Amino acid sequence: MSSTLIVLNLKTYLEGTGEGAVKVAQACKEVADDSGIEIGVAPQFCDIYRVASQVDLPVYSQSLDPVGAGSFTGHAFVQSIKDAGAVGTLINHSECRLTLANIDASITTARNAALKTIVCTNNVATSAAAAALGPDYVAVEPPELIGSGIPVSKADPEVVTGSVEAVKRINPAVQVLCGAGISKGEDLAAALELGSVGVLLASGIVKAADPKAALEDLVSKV
Ligand code: G3P
Repeated sequence: MSSTLIVLNLKTYLEGTGEGAVKVAQACKEVADDSGIEIGVAPQFCDIYRVASQVDLPVYSQSLDPVGAGSFTGHAFVQSIKDAGAVGTLINHSECRLTLANIDASITTARNAALKTIVCTNNVATSAAAAALGPDYVAVEPPELIGSGIPVSKADPEVVTGSVEAVKRINPAVQVLCGAGISKGEDLAAALELGSVGVLLASGIVKAADPKAALEDLVSKV
């Protein structure tokens, strides 16, 4: 396995919901096995168990709530996420923003349960702030490029290099992913060139007519 990491966020795309989540995850697994590149998926909460129990690949929660066991109705409890088969979690996202205090508490909650943490950020300043909290990964994604099909590695390379630099300065143990508009092999290659260790992506794969072919293209230039 190379040290490159690809995480596919299934969001609430219909194509990545229920049995669709299993199908996309299966495609990820096949391409990961063929390429030697680690590929994880982040399905919706209700699909974590379905995916993790049917497909042998790293499964991430799309978020979690920093609550303990007990009197907490309507929350995503870390123990339930872990027992469902997740190995990690996304934390914070431009589509589900948290306060700094909640990001910190979510990282601590996940870390105490031995879940990997990927904190999504929207610019260099928030990447730096997130790095100070010590997650495993910071994933920088300019919100205006999310779902646009315009890759961050081409449209805004400075946000990637700036985040890599800032994160390294603040906490060299934290690794940087980038995302937004990534779908092709050249996008992933450019993301790695810019100093990130991989990508967090969604629509370019989940909504592709043939997700497996799209994934094969994604890893083709690494
Ligand atoms: O979390 C990944 C994401 O926000 C990027 O979305 O559709 O631009 O790949 P997309």
